[in-house]
Amino acid sequence: MGMEIIVQTDAEAVGEYVAAKFTRVIENQPRTVLGVATGSSPRTTYRALARRAQAGLDTSGVRAFALDEYVGLDVDHPQSYHEIIRQEVTEPLGLNPSAVHVPHGQAQDLESAGPEYEAAIRDAGGVDVQLLGIGSNGHIGFNEPGSSLAGRTRLKTLAPKTRQDNARFFGGDITAVPIHCLTQGIGTILAAKSVVLVATGAAKARAIAAMAEGPVAAFCPASALQLHEHVTVVIDEDAASELTYREYYDFARDHRPDWQI
Ligand code: GLP
Repeated sequence: MGMEIIVQTDAEAVGEYVAAKFTRVIENQPRTVLGVATGSSPRTTYRALARRAQAGLDTSGVRAFALDEYVGLDVDHPQSYHEIIRQEVTEPLGLNPSAVHVPHGQAQDLESAGPEYEAAIRDAGGVDVQLLGIGSNGHIGFNEPGSSLAGRTRLKTLAPKTRQDNARFFGGDITAVPIHCLTQGIGTILAAKSVVLVATGAAKARAIAAMAEGPVAAFCPASALQLHEHVTVVIDEDAASELTYREYYDFARDHRPDWQI
């Protein structure tokens, strides 16, 4: 199917749409391996999934791998992705904590932490569905512009733009934002069996257009998703506002063959 673009009215509708999709996946395969992301974009999805878990969706067999983690924050630091995944994903969705993995940004040996994480994903049978947000500079995970499109989990340096964007989570203080991170590579992300990317708001409009319609190039790391066979992009009107072929995506959505729904 390639890359399918679904425009929803707002962030709540984006969350509901993706949660419904994930629910079908989990019901069909209770031991699904989810790839989970941090950032504000996936929050409505997690909340909608949490409501479904409360209403009886059985998530006890679901396994999960997070995309990335800051280097230098303790696991219980409020902005560590260990802590954010615990609060926003593991607990509300009722996942088994020992089946939820986050890259070990606290490791003494940061060089081995990447390959170890890759091995854990492989041992779990690979990621079935990877949920992604996108940075305003087109990053996915923490693969900043210029990253290898084939990279695997490894230590990376954050871009100044990302540290500036994320300073809001650190009391507005850019100097409190770590400089390094451990992140799955674009090669890792492309190995997931399917990918769902969510984005909302006008600040993401240029990145979304570059990802979907621009050249596959390191200047927009998310553009590598054009090379994946099963990508669903679920965005709101504002994030869709720079797309040149918007009308076509709506037409294709409205005429989707029955067997794909
Ligand atoms: C963060 C995360 C990404 C996320 C992105 C966008 O830095 N590492 O996984 O997709 O930036 O964040 P937000 O959804 O808050 O805009």
